Amino acid sequence: MEGKPLSDQVAVVTGASSGIGEAISKALAKAGARVVLGARRTEKLEETVKAIEKDGGKSVCKKTDVTIRQEVKDLVKFAESTFGPVDILVNNAGVFYYSLMKNVHEDLWEKTVDVNCKGVLHGIGAVIGGMVERKKGHIVNISSENGRKTFPGFAVYSGSKFFVEGVSRSLRQEVCKHGVKVTCIQPGDVDTEIFGLCEVDQEAIEKYGSFPQKCKILEPVDIASSVLYALTQPDHVAINEVLIHPKEAPLDY
Ligand SMILES: NC(=O)c1ccc[n+]([C@@H]2O[C@H](COP(=O)([O-])OP(=O)(O)OC[C@H]3O[C@@H](n4cnc5c(N)ncnc54)[C@H](OP(=O)(O)O)[C@@H]3O)[C@@H](O)[C@H]2O)c1
Repeated sequence: MEGKPLSDQVAVVTGASSGIGEAISKALAKAGARVVLGARRTEKLEETVKAIEKDGGKSVCKKTDVTIRQEVKDLVKFAESTFGPVDILVNNAGVFYYSLMKNVHEDLWEKTVDVNCKGVLHGIGAVIGGMVERKKGHIVNISSENGRKTFPGFAVYSGSKFFVEGVSRSLRQEVCKHGVKVTCIQPGDVDTEIFGLCEVDQEAIEKYGSFPQKCKILEPVDIASSVLYALTQPDHVAINEVLIHPKEAPLDY
């Protein structure tokens, strides 16, 4: 991408300490945005801030657990007091556990709902009033192919991403006349830490195989490019959904 198309923009990215969130943060900063990073692992956030600054960008970070509503509000307040009103929110923080429903991993079900569903609502709640008032804003929710199609072993994760899709569609209808855009990014398998934590249920693996898929899967930077694509359209153009997949593993839906 040429130039700095986001040079007048302030962006907040949740789950910015690794994987897709880290790549999005770097890409937005490279495109000129002043980027505020939130997640729980502050050392990793600080490393990314340093990398962005070394590259000539502007960034700060704040320890944030997206399951705690007040912490997300504080992240947005911190962004506003440091750089000004938030133009872009990327709700990226997420968890994924591969398991069979009959094995009843209830604590992980709850964690998935807390991070993937409530975390997204906490993000929306922290910015939507200001965006509507200013008639300017873009909320990007990192959903999943699992927000379009269900797979065995992914029930609660898929439910959480269908939730994100449903909220996004309705929100878009409400705010489209108030200058606010809502985009869902729906990646297939991306090479990140999420797969290191996901295999909690041996029976699911034996029955349906392990993940990620055995082909050249996506890189976090591929998802960052699709976010930039959505953010850099002319004012009258809305990119509502981006389904982005490894070339050799198309979604059969
Ligand atoms: N990788 C894939 O194949 C894939 C495919 C489709 C969609 N996605 C989605 O992409 C998003 C990012 O995942 P990833 O693949 O980049 O995995 P990742 O490297 O594990 O990143 C997950 C991020 O979420 C953050 N996070 C988790 N719980 C949090 C909490 N309670 N509060 C704040 N931050 C929290 C983590 O930060 P801390 O641990 O530092 O808090 C981390 O920065 C997720 O929403 C995921 O569902 C991933």
